[in-house]
Amino acid sequence: MNSQAYLSELFSLDGRVAVVTGGSSGIGRAITGALARAGARVVVVARKEAELAATVDELTAEGCRAAWVSADLSTRDGVHAAAEEAVGSFGEPDILVNCAGVNLRPPMSELGEDVWDTTMALNLEAPFLLGQRFGPGMAERGFGRIIHITSQQAHRAFVQSGVYGVSKGALESLARSQAEAWSPHGVTCNTLVPGFVMTPLNARLSSDPEKVAALAARTLIGRNGLAEDFAGAAVFLAGRASAYVTGQSIFVDGGFSVH
Ligand SMILES: NC(=O)c1ccc[n+]([C@@H]2O[C@H](COP(=O)([O-])OP(=O)(O)OC[C@H]3O[C@@H](n4cnc5c(N)ncnc54)[C@H](OP(=O)(O)O)[C@@H]3O)[C@@H](O)[C@H]2O)c1
Repeated sequence: MNSQAYLSELFSLDGRVAVVTGGSSGIGRAITGALARAGARVVVVARKEAELAATVDELTAEGCRAAWVSADLSTRDGVHAAAEEAVGSFGEPDILVNCAGVNLRPPMSELGEDVWDTTMALNLEAPFLLGQRFGPGMAERGFGRIIHITSQQAHRAFVQSGVYGVSKGALESLARSQAEAWSPHGVTCNTLVPGFVMTPLNARLSSDPEKVAALAARTLIGRNGLAEDFAGAAVFLAGRASAYVTGQSIFVDGGFSVH
């Protein structure tokens, strides 16, 4: 077997279908590109149509297969409708990546019920509902990959962690619950844990050069994360090579968490 065939056996996503929420920006967009270039047909779900179309156009221009669904995943109806529309493109998914997230960080004493509800709905309930919709089918077919994007805040509280940390901590627990339920049937469920990644999500922090430098200094690599840093880990977790990796939190953080 030549090296190309060997690598393909381990990592190729040919014939797979993926759904990536939040796949039109930042980390999700990089993961969408990685899965599509590795051979998967990818459906991207987010709200803004222009960004969705730009993401899909970029990939189809490269010869990849991708489609988009515009939906607000912060309501149950929005999630259910998005799931049904998503399967219309390429069929039931083998891979689900939950990347859409909101990062609202008021001080704890001022944290209102509205911020709690919005955060828990998008960051936790949408991944749960999509898992309920797609996980059993993956288990029945004997192959599935569920990947959630969590946060350092799932493991420790800093800079007003608030409900954001609660939602991400619970998302890690959700991955373990899903792993317990479906791993015996070939469905692995894991999380990718970013450090500080320069994306539109944290535009306010990214625009402060002193804070950006201080965060970079907290890594072992010496720089902040880039969305592209998630490509390899996502392809690994989405493919055959990771068949014996489940219920895990994989830190893609330049050593931020161990410094
Ligand atoms: N950047 C970091 O440093 C960092 C660190 C730790 C964890 N994370 C996590 O990584 C994930 C991706 O973050 P990012 O930095 O890549 O953010 P980003 O660039 O702002 O992307 C967020 C994505 O989520 C979508 N989205 C937001 N609200 C939505 C809604 N209500 N319904 C459907 N889609 C929605 C956005 O598209 P629309 O606005 O068009 O809907 C966009 O595609 C998040 O879960 C975040 O918590 C990021």
